[in-house]
Amino acid sequence: MRRIAFVNEKGGTGKTTLAVHVAAWIARARNLRVLLVDMDTQGHAGKTLGLDVREIQPNVFHFLTDPSVNLTQVRHSTEVPGLSVVPAYKQMAGLAAALGSSPAAAERLGQRLDEFASEQDAVVIDGPPSLGLSVTAMLLAATEVVIPVALTYLALDGCAEVARTVERTAVEHQRPGLRVSAVVPMMHRRTALAEAVRERLEAYFPGRVTPSLGVNVAIDEAQSHGKTVWDYAPRSRGAQMMSAVAESVWALGAPA
Ligand SMILES: Nc1ncnc2c1ncn2[C@@H]1O[C@H](COP(=O)(O)OP(=O)(O)O)[C@@H](O)[C@H]1O
Ligand SMILES: [Mg+2]
Repeated sequence: MRRIAFVNEKGGTGKTTLAVHVAAWIARARNLRVLLVDMDTQGHAGKTLGLDVREIQPNVFHFLTDPSVNLTQVRHSTEVPGLSVVPAYKQMAGLAAALGSSPAAAERLGQRLDEFASEQDAVVIDGPPSLGLSVTAMLLAATEVVIPVALTYLALDGCAEVARTVERTAVEHQRPGLRVSAVVPMMHRRTALAEAVRERLEAYFPGRVTPSLGVNVAIDEAQSHGKTVWDYAPRSRGAQMMSAVAESVWALGAPA
């Protein structure tokens, strides 16, 4: 079962936007049962799909810290057929304190997903804007890692840092298959700098850079309505771009 983690320690790079849309795309276009797992205290993955994440308990925190909580209790269906979501909220700030610092803590997410592997075809995991236990847990649960990168000069540094973290985690935890499968250039504008940054990404990650996702207001607006851009504004440029990006992410991560 493919498990795709969206990672970047920088906030506002579009991790949540992309994770939600890739998950919805896989469910719709590939007709698969997709589970979207939120690991971020902000709870935006569930929120942008219309859930009131403040009120929902148990959530991913309880799923990870209490073995008696099963997936059915934390999984919520969405308006997108085939897509369900495990929401997060502020409790996730206490994950490290609750699980402790043993190596087993970082394995917990992967183990819990293994228990319910027969119940979905793909898992998409949205991460926090930091590196810590949640991200290590995501990397150890993942079969592939996607890095959304803003097309700005400094974002290149952040992207390289994430790539190093993935490599280091793969070595330290003996996960030879763990890899960055795709890099998604975000917030694309037609400027010389954006083109130059895109070229640098292509040099650094040959064959793994997807089409760029340009800025489109329908993408932002859709979230405020708790919908995907395809449901909110199916004819928008944002909907078109998002389909191209999601299809590319899915193709690049396909097992050889
Ligand atoms: N292509 C885009 N066009 C317009 N707005 C976007 C686009 N991608 C992301 N956004 C907006 O940028 C903000 C940050 O994105 P988000 O996915 O929450 O980032 P992160 O999860 O990395 O913090 C959100 O308000 C989102 O709607
Ligand atoms: Mg986010």
